[in-house]
Amino acid sequence: MTVTAVPVSTRSRVVAGAARSIRERLDGRTPTIALILGSGLGPFVTRFADPLRIPFADIAGFPAATIPGHAGELVVGTLAGTTVLAQSGRFHLYEGHGADTAALAVRAFAELGIGTLILTNAAGGIRRTFGQGTVMLIADHLNFTFRNPLAGGVLDGEQRFPDMSDPYDSTLRARARDVARAMGVALEEGVYAGVLGPSYETPAEIRMLERVGADAVGMSTVLEVIAARARGMRCLGFSTITNFAAGLTLHRLDHRDVMEVAARVQGQLGDVIEGVIRGG
Ligand code: HPA
Repeated sequence: MTVTAVPVSTRSRVVAGAARSIRERLDGRTPTIALILGSGLGPFVTRFADPLRIPFADIAGFPAATIPGHAGELVVGTLAGTTVLAQSGRFHLYEGHGADTAALAVRAFAELGIGTLILTNAAGGIRRTFGQGTVMLIADHLNFTFRNPLAGGVLDGEQRFPDMSDPYDSTLRARARDVARAMGVALEEGVYAGVLGPSYETPAEIRMLERVGADAVGMSTVLEVIAARARGMRCLGFSTITNFAAGLTLHRLDHRDVMEVAARVQGQLGDVIEGVIRGG
């Protein structure tokens, strides 16, 4: 099979087009933080003053969101005096999107001059002490999707071989720990393994991931962080542990349970994120 790479000029044009349509809809606002809201975390935007919604359908190059629980819109608003651009709904590889599409929003955010990216996701717990509802600060990740948005020609503003030794910014993580401690919110910290999905893992796959150092597993985040780091953005990530990963209990995995647990925890996690933003 011959694979023809999409030319850099085409890929750059898609990013520039998306950034342009977002900028046109921002009404002169200049967000400094972008926030990607995973399953169940959509209500976070109710904390925003002066929210302005931008449906994905209005953004050039953005596919429509297809997953229940993901709204498919950007919401810009003010939180603790900071202009924040939230993304509710994201593009997953398991929907059939390529790595470039999974990273498109992040690249557009970078093009808009946003320097900080906060990501949230729902994940299965692999570390035995992680029960349903545990909030895990992502310390590091394992890219088990075997895809990379940087493959192909180098896009403007990106590096060919970006350093990934501090993918989740240590200063932001320290701030998140301080905020959580002050609020009395239990915050664990661990390694997130990103997989392609959409089938949940087998028990043997979970045993493998456990042996290679994963504490949680999910189907997003890693490609977004790779694209963000290639553009020099600082990242902070949180996983809501919605279930024990396959084989750790007799329970079968169900997306509805994932949504239910994520929704239950979103208030506490939202408080921590708001505290981090408040701290500047
Ligand atoms: N595996 C992968 N992704 C997930 C899981 C899981 O167990 N739970 C929520 N997202």
